[in-house]
Amino acid sequence: MTTSVNRRDLFKGASGLALLSTLPAWSVQAQISGAAPLSDVRDTLSLDKGWRFFEGDIPFPEPIGNSATYDSTKTGAAGGAASLNFDDTEWTPVTLPHDFVSFQPIENGRNVAQGFRKRGIAWYRNILRFEESDRGKHIEIQLDGISTYATVWFNGTVVRHSFSGYTSSYIDVTAFATYGNALNALDIRVDAKSMEGWWYEGGGMYRHAWVVKRNPVHIITDGVYGFPVKGENGWQIPAEVTLYNIGHQAAPVEIVSELKDASGAVIKSATVTASVPSLRQAMANFSLDIADPKLWSVDQPNLYTVHTKLLQNGKLVDENQFETGFRTTHWDADKGLFLNDRPIKVQGVCVHQDHAGVGVAVPDALWEYRLKRLKELGVNAIRSSHNAPNKHLLKLADRMGFLIMNENRMFNPSPDYMEQLQWMVRRDRNHPCVYLWSVFNEEPMQGTPQGYEMVRRMSDAVKALDGNNRPVTAAINGGMFEPVNVTQAVDVVGFNYQQDKYDAFHKANPTIPLYSSEDTSAFMTRGEYVSDRDGRHVIASYDDEAAPWGERHLEAWKAIDERPWIAGGFVWTGFDYHGEPTPLTWPANSSVFGIMDLCGFEKAAFYMHQSQWVKDRPVLWLIPHWNWKIGETVRVVACTNCEEVELFVNGKTAGRQPRNKYEMNTWHVPFAPGRIEAVGYTGGKAISRTRVETTSDPVALKITPERETVNGDGIDVITFKIESQDAKGRYSQFSQADCTFEVTNGEIIGLGNGDSNSSESEKGSRRKLFNGLAQVIVKSAEDTTGQMTLTAKADGLKAGVAKVKIAPVKPWPYQVVSEPVQPLPVLLTAPATATAPDEIPQNLSPLQTELWGRIRPGFINEGLAQDGYQLAVVRWTPYARVQKQGGRLVFPKVKGAMQVFVDGKAVAEKSDAAEGAFEAKLPPGSGERNLALLFKLKAGETFGLPEHAWIATL
Ligand code: GAL
Repeated sequence: MTTSVNRRDLFKGASGLALLSTLPAWSVQAQISGAAPLSDVRDTLSLDKGWRFFEGDIPFPEPIGNSATYDSTKTGAAGGAASLNFDDTEWTPVTLPHDFVSFQPIENGRNVAQGFRKRGIAWYRNILRFEESDRGKHIEIQLDGISTYATVWFNGTVVRHSFSGYTSSYIDVTAFATYGNALNALDIRVDAKSMEGWWYEGGGMYRHAWVVKRNPVHIITDGVYGFPVKGENGWQIPAEVTLYNIGHQAAPVEIVSELKDASGAVIKSATVTASVPSLRQAMANFSLDIADPKLWSVDQPNLYTVHTKLLQNGKLVDENQFETGFRTTHWDADKGLFLNDRPIKVQGVCVHQDHAGVGVAVPDALWEYRLKRLKELGVNAIRSSHNAPNKHLLKLADRMGFLIMNENRMFNPSPDYMEQLQWMVRRDRNHPCVYLWSVFNEEPMQGTPQGYEMVRRMSDAVKALDGNNRPVTAAINGGMFEPVNVTQAVDVVGFNYQQDKYDAFHKANPTIPLYSSEDTSAFMTRGEYVSDRDGRHVIASYDDEAAPWGERHLEAWKAIDERPWIAGGFVWTGFDYHGEPTPLTWPANSSVFGIMDLCGFEKAAFYMHQSQWVKDRPVLWLIPHWNWKIGETVRVVACTNCEEVELFVNGKTAGRQPRNKYEMNTWHVPFAPGRIEAVGYTGGKAISRTRVETTSDPVALKITPERETVNGDGIDVITFKIESQDAKGRYSQFSQADCTFEVTNGEIIGLGNGDSNSSESEKGSRRKLFNGLAQVIVKSAEDTTGQMTLTAKADGLKAGVAKVKIAPVKPWPYQVVSEPVQPLPVLLTAPATATAPDEIPQNLSPLQTELWGRIRPGFINEGLAQDGYQLAVVRWTPYARVQKQGGRLVFPKVKGAMQVFVDGKAVAEKSDAAEGAFEAKLPPGSGERNLALLFKLKAGETFGLPEHAWIATL
């Protein structure tokens, strides 16, 4: 059998680079894409695919003896799972983002802070193929975030130690890379036993990974800094470009940078020249001026693009694009914060980076869902607590209009940690959304001279990179009246839960701007209106209960809103998160602090804050439900921004009240089945109505997709809301029905229902409703069109079906990756014979092993003296999957006519002497095997395997 080697076939999972020329400059996805803008001169390829994962640790072999130890210390010689040729064929294939902890059961006895889930050590491996055409390029691997600590090997050499789960790794692998059929191994050991937080942190490669290929002279990663500043005569973007050159000579270059408006029209450009020394960085500075841009604000997030091109001898060699926004912020110790000279009260929420079903591996589209929910709530600022966010969140915040308080994780000015802070500022300093750099959250040293000195250094490091473009802050919960404390080292002060100290601090420090970096920590379980902390582990939704250190939602906002000099606040938290179920105990495993639950379903706090925060449309909600015991007195609350509100119970007025902005409007009314209705009046006119009806038992399931379309690219993700309904099609809020789900053209990646007491798995296809709701999170299948269908079934209920249109969208370009392939071992050559041997020797004697010659893949052997046969044999153990399923012996080139024997049996023959590709089937079989190649040769004819050869899985 002679076949030509088909690389596409070999390198499954590779989408190929051809896509590059077929997509426009910005991705065509309807959702806001997380990928970098496409370029003809710089490849930014997704490395989310092709990973193999192992849960647990793999010990490194311990060398014994001097020369084994000597060998083990050499570059490229890492052992065990970090070695080049490690058998990972039995590992689990995974696609990023991947949080391995989210797959673990929730078990009593484990760490409550981390959501009662087992953490631990894990490994990830991928095999990368770089083409011959990549040779000479600068190749960088970017790992956006690995929780918690990670060690990275490339081709058997350590290339990175990452000591934070929240920072990225940019790894230049150019010097180690191999090309063509010589593949590259990327191995990552993750230590998620380590923790950096007291909340659920997940584990593994939970953000994206990329391979970026650039020309030898190029712009480095995060290498263009340009933040617009307003001067006397208009705006200026003072820009700085950092270049690098891996070539052998200094390179003179030209940099052309263009400012483009939303339509893509160039409205300003600047040109500078520079020389980049060999293996050195060089900086170039220029300025883009514009008199009267459209300003960026949270309501009108107008964006422009800075497109910087690098030219060498007039030819484009690299480019960089980022979005920018023109806005000013100004802090006034008496009047608070001003955005574009207009006062803005920050209506903020703190968020952790996890969601129901997926843990911390939150896909980009799910971030978009979460931020849309926050917009609806009236949020205008997000605190990324307590760590640098996923970079997609910042892109969304720029485009959707949110201010971001960007927070550093570890409070520590020593070099390793300073590097983490500097990385965050470098990565994020172009974003118009970022308005604050926070150096810490609640540190015990905040009221000490040591704390003060540490902040001074960290603040200075930020300013060295971002000047005075944004203030440096810290989230402080004590020590602010000590003689030396951190409030003296920051630009603006954030208080966590210190509302009783607002006035005293302001009085004592009348020139220091103050805001609430964290407040509230109130408890609420969605859909519950009677607290039962010890029995059912639920908390009523009337906003009556908060942590001892916190305040009720309504109380916290009142304290902020009534003080003009408090520049707003950040509620703890926008969404529930895994871990920290305070004040509940097992089985509660996720928090109940959220304004929304783990799925982003609104709790009563949503209605309360929305009525306080939304000003451009009427808001009117009623709580609770209207299913009580006849005669029971029910506390009915209306949340509205209308001037007055009237409650009707079964058509009869229960009273009209002026809006109670801070405590909401309350009536106590006897229950009778039927309905409650509210009418909101402004200027004496009824402008808003809402009603809540007595519902009956559930009879059906209804599914509501979050959007009408999903991209058929295998990347996009869509959420579905599952809801129980009564016979009249009304939301029936008490059902805990056990549902099973089926999806077409997609894959369920997570399930949730917002029940903080549920220890059901968040994976699979089955989930109970909690108080009538559940969420199914589905990733689209790649290369699909038509429809995605989700079906939900539960005993006794009519099944629900939802159909979503699939938009035909091409995925990101992917780095070519390979299934594991085992390199063909070196073979031993027997003395040549005139006739074909009768049988193939199965075991060689030590003497034969020592004396016989070699056939090495990659080399050509000299010809024989006479016509005859040359046998080459080897014993080797194929990779586990090949042992089980069989494999393929792949020879990209064979010179000479050749017969292949496996365990003494002929399996394939190349009868043609001409050089060519050849492939043979390897039958399954366990343990060590015998491979023999028998060449039939004319005298003097050179022969052998001129290229690498390998054993591939089927
Ligand atoms: C704060 C802390 C948060 C969270 C919260 C719970 O003190 O900053 O991370 O733990 O308490 O109330």
